[in-house]
Amino acid sequence: MNRPHDPGMPDSLSAEVGRSHPHESAVLHVTGEAIYTDDIAEVSGTLHAALGLSSKAHATLLAMDLTAVRNAKGVVAVLTAADIPGVNDCGPIVHDDPLLADGSVQYLGQPIFVVIADTHDHARRAARKAQIHYHELPALLNQEAARQAGSYVVAPMRLQKGDARTALGNAPHRLAGKWTVGGQEQFYLEGQIAYAIPKEDRGMQVYCSTQHPSEMQHIIALALGVHAHQIVVECRRMGGGFGGKESQSGLWAGVAAICAAHLNRPVKLRADRDDDMLVTGKRHCFSYDYDVGYDDTGRITAARVEMLARAGFSADLSAPVATRAMCHFDNVYYLADTDIVALCAKTNTQSNTAFRGFGGPQGAIAIEYILDSIARLTGQDALDVRKANFYGRNDAEGRNVTQYGQKVVDNVIHELVAQLEHSSQYRQRRSAINLFNAASPILKKGLALTPVKFGIAFNVTFLNQAGALVHVYTDGSVLVNHGGTEMGQGVNTKVCQVVAQELGIAFRWVRASAADTSKVANTSATAASTGADLNGKAAQLAARTIRNRLADFAVTLFGGTAAEAVFADGMVSLNQNSMAFSALVQKAYLARVQLWSDGFYATPGLHWDPKTMNGNPFSYFSYGAAVSEVIIDTLTGESKVLRVDVLYDAGQSLNPAIDIGQVEGAYIQGLGWLTSEELWWNSDGRLMTHAPSTYKIPAVSDCPEDFRVQLFNNANVQDSIHRSKAVGEPPLLLAFSAFFAIRDAVASIADHKINPPLTAPATCEAILKSITFIQAAQAAQAAPMTGNG
Ligand code: MTE
Ligand code: MOS
Repeated sequence: MNRPHDPGMPDSLSAEVGRSHPHESAVLHVTGEAIYTDDIAEVSGTLHAALGLSSKAHATLLAMDLTAVRNAKGVVAVLTAADIPGVNDCGPIVHDDPLLADGSVQYLGQPIFVVIADTHDHARRAARKAQIHYHELPALLNQEAARQAGSYVVAPMRLQKGDARTALGNAPHRLAGKWTVGGQEQFYLEGQIAYAIPKEDRGMQVYCSTQHPSEMQHIIALALGVHAHQIVVECRRMGGGFGGKESQSGLWAGVAAICAAHLNRPVKLRADRDDDMLVTGKRHCFSYDYDVGYDDTGRITAARVEMLARAGFSADLSAPVATRAMCHFDNVYYLADTDIVALCAKTNTQSNTAFRGFGGPQGAIAIEYILDSIARLTGQDALDVRKANFYGRNDAEGRNVTQYGQKVVDNVIHELVAQLEHSSQYRQRRSAINLFNAASPILKKGLALTPVKFGIAFNVTFLNQAGALVHVYTDGSVLVNHGGTEMGQGVNTKVCQVVAQELGIAFRWVRASAADTSKVANTSATAASTGADLNGKAAQLAARTIRNRLADFAVTLFGGTAAEAVFADGMVSLNQNSMAFSALVQKAYLARVQLWSDGFYATPGLHWDPKTMNGNPFSYFSYGAAVSEVIIDTLTGESKVLRVDVLYDAGQSLNPAIDIGQVEGAYIQGLGWLTSEELWWNSDGRLMTHAPSTYKIPAVSDCPEDFRVQLFNNANVQDSIHRSKAVGEPPLLLAFSAFFAIRDAVASIADHKINPPLTAPATCEAILKSITFIQAAQAAQAAPMTGNG
């Protein structure tokens, strides 16, 4: 079952799967040749649109004077909600998300009108000239305020297992508290953009930077009041999506199409960074209210948690995000009696949405915070408390059913963590850090090992389907179209490897084309880390159909049976004959053999009941663990990650180089979320951190100097594509280790006896605050003794 991962040495010379191919567009990326939506050659007559945004967080629109906008230089037209011919909505699940505000505004930054001009600059300048009269209404600016007002975007959700109340009552020890984790801006390098070109017969071609072309097609068709077959949405690649272009590209696609249809001219709508950040939703910030019971070994015996997520003004994907949070509160730990409530607070802020991990990080970090706290209370190393809570290895050990009823049948966390503990020299470094801290009054070091288990599949079963269309041309070259979208994660590279392997030809013979709703219909978003899993399988089936036809045809040339035909190294061999793949294809074409095929895949074995929040929502779990070592300055609150060791379970990796790149990128992105990226709204509800000047994503200088990433030798127990495992999102959770290493460093001030109330992100201010708390708590403990002495 296990096989060493050596990027250079696949199973056989001809194996394309398992090899570290560079990203299919790597050369285009670095030379600047890669075409993003804004680089597409503009059709003559193209106009440019800009959005006019609300300057109030919550208000009724009394009057709009758009005269100055209309009269501004270069302006061709100004449109409002009244000009939308069809449905004014881009909400992916609940239809509460207008493209353009109609009658009222619900957050500061909400689009109210769109102005179309001859240039991008003219459109942007004109958009600022509007005179809008508002009747201001009370605004709920954060999740606590919304909770008090009972304001939610969807009904509260509850997931219960056993009897948490009784089990809490019987627990040997209790720990209750509150905690918060901040949100996060996706900060894709390429901003939101759509370019709509009207076609004959009310048709529309839309180029859009989106993770979900089919959803864009749907929104546009509804907004224009036409059929889906009149709309074609295409995306060759995104300059990053990170969840931010799963549903929220809909606004840009919908508005660009409305403008183009209205004027019957091509229209491009591109957000500049400030507008992009002001308009679109982010990762949900969460507040937690928890109460757990535990025994002397730190093992949790019962848990109750209420998760309060800031959804923003509309539902968007908040319900599925909260569901994933509830389904990841266990992380790698067995929870017996559990009661989880999730509330999606309706606030007058941007509508929060998908972001790498999709609520999973917010669910799992809560239990990690709790375990980290328990360790200080029991006086153990946090790693030992974590281990005491791991899921059982198998049925014999038990403790292997999740709070949502799915049995964990592929648990590798014991072996994986043991291997990492050893390779990272966790225990030796713990001792070394204790010595360092004892001798260093100002600078303090911290260390933490945190594990991850992440469920792979969309919670909602029907989304777990994919299609592909594979063309073999008469020269033997192959073009693959599939339902996935490329955002830098390498799904095209992986799918091309799968197809090359299936046909026994070299990678360079296979090319992926742009995602296109006219080629593969009704696709799911490229999300939930399932892109390569789903589309890889669909493309494999398509390629297999063609191979089988070619094998049948080879029998007519060489005799033997089709099952004996070998496709490898660019040759097809059968019955002691062999022929180049391209030569066989040429002959097959002349013999009228169909050389293209579709393929369709639906992940088996999944079911989910949203009412009881029970079922088998995931196909399998991806696992990983990380050890982070940090140093903090107790006078300034600054922190630095010194060394990171990661071990990640990508199953039989389809492409180790790409997977390691995903692990590194996800870790750094998670590090940003938990240390430097802070979203801040002023009392008017204006997002003040709306540009890189005030919003701090990690820079190269924040990357650990010593960063060791390895893939764990494993094979998926499920029949996933070549027994690989998903890698897109799970490693983001590995950055928990950096946060808990910082908390460990702070706790060292009081000899690890007091729990620092460190909130995330652990900015300099947050670290200083928790240091001040620890020092005050220490002083308070010391004071009575001095007084009595
Ligand atoms: N990697 C890059 N370079 N850019 C991205 O936008 N998005 C992440 C992850 N890795 C992203 C990325 C997210 S949120 C998801 S869900 C997965 O990629 C989606 O792709 P996959 O399913 O093909 O892994
Ligand atoms: Mo990823 S958050 O599922 O797009």
